[in-house]
Amino acid sequence: MVNRQIAVVTGAGSGIGAAIATELGRRGYHVVVTDVVAQNASKVAKGIDSAQDRQLDVTNPDECETLVQAVVAEHGRLDVWVSNAGISKMQRFVDISPADLARNFEVNAYGVFFCGQSAARAMIALGTRGAIVNTASMAAKEGGVLFLSDYVASKFAVLGLTQAMAAELAPHGIRVNCVCPGYVATSMQARELAWEAELRGVDEATVRQSYIDNTPLARLETAEDVAKVVAFLVSDDASFVTGEAISVNGGAYMD
Ligand SMILES: NC(=O)c1ccc[n+]([C@@H]2O[C@H](COP(=O)([O-])OP(=O)(O)OC[C@H]3O[C@@H](n4cnc5c(N)ncnc54)[C@H](O)[C@@H]3O)[C@@H](O)[C@H]2O)c1
Repeated sequence: MVNRQIAVVTGAGSGIGAAIATELGRRGYHVVVTDVVAQNASKVAKGIDSAQDRQLDVTNPDECETLVQAVVAEHGRLDVWVSNAGISKMQRFVDISPADLARNFEVNAYGVFFCGQSAARAMIALGTRGAIVNTASMAAKEGGVLFLSDYVASKFAVLGLTQAMAAELAPHGIRVNCVCPGYVATSMQARELAWEAELRGVDEATVRQSYIDNTPLARLETAEDVAKVVAFLVSDDASFVTGEAISVNGGAYMD
């Protein structure tokens, strides 16, 4: 048991999730670093002052529930939940198989749903006026994106779910928001650069430059750019913010 606020982050073994876990640790939370790839969660947790790591596959509702119960049993509290795990695979709309579509929704949408349910149940039972943040995407607001139709659909779902959760959980004092990052330099982006270059018949440098050209602040986004906004959303500074979808994209999409 630690005498700090407890924050759980999913998909925290890499990229944006790792940055969120690290930033929350820097701000004094005890962070439960989770990922489907256990050794990556472990590596990230080692770099945080007060942290532990747990394997969690967000597509499995029983695993989500078990993890939440274990955190509550150990620490007696759950203050912050960040549903960040997500996947992408660039393909033409006409080529996406039912299996790929299902997998995308299982991780990106169902995962947020299952984790949110388990976290909210625990916060309600504990009487905690907690905060939940979901990682959506710029593609949750701007659907006119090539080769990511399943991803766009799942991220629009995350944005809608965030609003529905915020409405139902507000009477319990639980706030629910999402962040909508733009072109973030992570391993997901590295994979997308290769796919998009292949699909467009150009080289990866051309695709990367197109992301920068599409961003008024004229650089690729960092995972830390996103993490700082998540840290704001879960903090008391955002105590009257709920149901929001905060764009963090250097101006690449303005709404
Ligand atoms: N990189 C971008 O440009 C970008 C832009 C907008 C939104 N996002 C979103 O940000 C989030 C993080 O993406 P990233 O760029 O850091 O990617 P990433 O691939 O670096 O990290 C994603 C992490 O999620 C984990 N994961 C995958 N499936 C999982 C599952 N079933 N259960 C638990 N963990 C699982 C992976 O192991 C990995 O550690 C995703 O939701 C992604 O859709 C990314």
